Amino acid sequence: MSQPQSWTPIADNRARPGNRVPPFAPSSAELGVYAKYVGRVRENPSLPPRALILGSTPELRDLTISAGLEAHALDISPEMLVKFSALMEHAGSELDKRHLGDWRATEFPAGYFGLVFGDGSLMSLASREDNETVVGRCARSLSPGGYLVARNSCFVSDYDGYRDASALVGDYRAGKLTWNDLFMELRFFVFKDQAYNPANFQYDAGVTFRRIDELQAAGLLPDGEYKRINEFRNSIINTVYPEAEFVSMVGRHGFRLEETFHDGPELFFRHFFMLAFAR
Ligand SMILES: C[S@@+](CC[C@H](N)C(=O)[O-])C[C@H]1O[C@@H](n2cnc3c(N)ncnc32)[C@H](O)[C@@H]1O
Repeated sequence: MSQPQSWTPIADNRARPGNRVPPFAPSSAELGVYAKYVGRVRENPSLPPRALILGSTPELRDLTISAGLEAHALDISPEMLVKFSALMEHAGSELDKRHLGDWRATEFPAGYFGLVFGDGSLMSLASREDNETVVGRCARSLSPGGYLVARNSCFVSDYDGYRDASALVGDYRAGKLTWNDLFMELRFFVFKDQAYNPANFQYDAGVTFRRIDELQAAGLLPDGEYKRINEFRNSIINTVYPEAEFVSMVGRHGFRLEETFHDGPELFFRHFFMLAFAR
């Protein structure tokens, strides 16, 4: 198992209410998809009325609690857990359960949950091996008939992104792209050849942010945009699967794909989207 990757250094920025917007937080349509699976669990008496949230995502914990289910947030970072909890409407409710721990090593009883939510979580793991470990743990702690719902970045066959920084910044300056798309294109496509290893699906965010520094030093990126991009800076290794590989990896752990959902209209929704699986 690799070293755990920490989000603690950027907890303040991540938890700023103005930063709880897509792609960093789920959109309202994406919350609707999460809510649909909460509803399915609530209406099925054979499923435990409990959700495991991989991380501290406040919107998902509120959604779950307001439907009367226990929301079990599991996060390795005490700062993220505290700061994201402070954003919740239902913080401190008896259904608000918090666990400090590593998704790869935390045991829950078999079949304890009716639902697992992972909002940008699996892609935050550093390797395919870690993804297999966490999805395996999710399968064991989910009751048969329960659901795993993830919002994840995957490479898809019908979208390839910008590879040319000048063309990207030009389209952004011409008002053809939002700041969110500027960020996500820089993060996942412009430097893909240098930062992504297609053999193991590892995407090195540190490389990406260093290339972004170079763009700014060369005068290509406006200072205001550079400053905002740096609010989300990290140096983790992401695992970004091609979509079909991700679906078959999850499938090997006993899950069946129920649906995918892409919100719109921004470009990032093409490659950062929801996948819901049933066990
Ligand atoms: C789920 S992700 C992405 C952000 C999230 N979508 C949000 O709402 O902002 C980041 C969270 O996962 C936590 N995390 C990352 N790796 C972890 C691990 N192996 N075990 C437990 N928590 C982890 C981080 O501390 C952080 O709070």
